[in-house]
Amino acid sequence: MNAIVFGASSGIGRDLAIRLSQDGYNVKITARREELLKELCLEFPKLSYYAFDINDLSSVEEHFSDIVSDFGVIDLIVHCAGIGFENPELIWKMENDTIATNVLSATRIYDLSFLLFKKQGFGHLVGISSIASLRGNRHSPAYFASKAFQVNYLESLYLKTKEIASGKVYVTDIRPGFVDTRMALGDDIFWMSGLKKAVNQTYRAIKCKRRRVYISKRWTLIAWILKIVPSWLIKKIM
Ligand SMILES: NC(=O)c1ccc[n+]([C@@H]2O[C@H](COP(=O)([O-])OP(=O)(O)OC[C@H]3O[C@@H](n4cnc5c(N)ncnc54)[C@H](OP(=O)(O)O)[C@@H]3O)[C@@H](O)[C@H]2O)c1
Repeated sequence: MNAIVFGASSGIGRDLAIRLSQDGYNVKITARREELLKELCLEFPKLSYYAFDINDLSSVEEHFSDIVSDFGVIDLIVHCAGIGFENPELIWKMENDTIATNVLSATRIYDLSFLLFKKQGFGHLVGISSIASLRGNRHSPAYFASKAFQVNYLESLYLKTKEIASGKVYVTDIRPGFVDTRMALGDDIFWMSGLKKAVNQTYRAIKCKRRRVYISKRWTLIAWILKIVPSWLIKKIM
């Protein structure tokens, strides 16, 4: 079994890649911080890496094609790379970088993956979106909006699997709440999941080819509340 994990130098992607390699997958890992990728590959021989910036879309295309040539077929692609900032002053660079990474580059990776799986007749695309996808947020507007984009794009690709006769192409949307990585935004974080628990639950959702899942499970309740609470109440309390 062959897999790619985009965004595997730290956090959820890193630990998920290790977990997949321990389960027998050959895994290509990618990110910008080459030293971290190199260390990981030395420790886990079923991992190998490509270091590049996903915001350079021609690099994404080039490396994607190299990985496909190298592996022959790919069973699983996890898109975990992402950034997020608290940006209450709406500093344009932060908004722009977030949209470039989480929207434009993510879309390129989703599409390359989907088209490959369509050609192969099988494969599993996993996107790591967020509970943030459900509503707006005054501290991190671009991040929350970018996650809503990811959720809807992944759903569109799920709907597009209807066009693939084999019925063996799957799309999973993982929606973490707060997970203890460098990405967790803010202080005094509410209901933070440990990385190990988050990765275990993500891994199980991938194995079961779930359509969507909240991580950890108790965020399912928060999601339900977030979907029905009116904007005026969010404005008052958050
Ligand atoms: N932690 C949370 O509370 C939480 C909650 C909801 C959703 N999420 C989502 O989970 C995903 C993983 O985040 P994490 O929490 O594991 O944080 P993380 O440790 O910061 O991981 C982010 C990964 O994305 C890679 N990345 C970022 N920008 C990149 C770029 N331009 N090119 C290539 N790789 C890039 C980073 O590698 P380099 O910096 O080495 O490039 C890193 O490997 C993200 O999509 C995040 O939005 C996290």
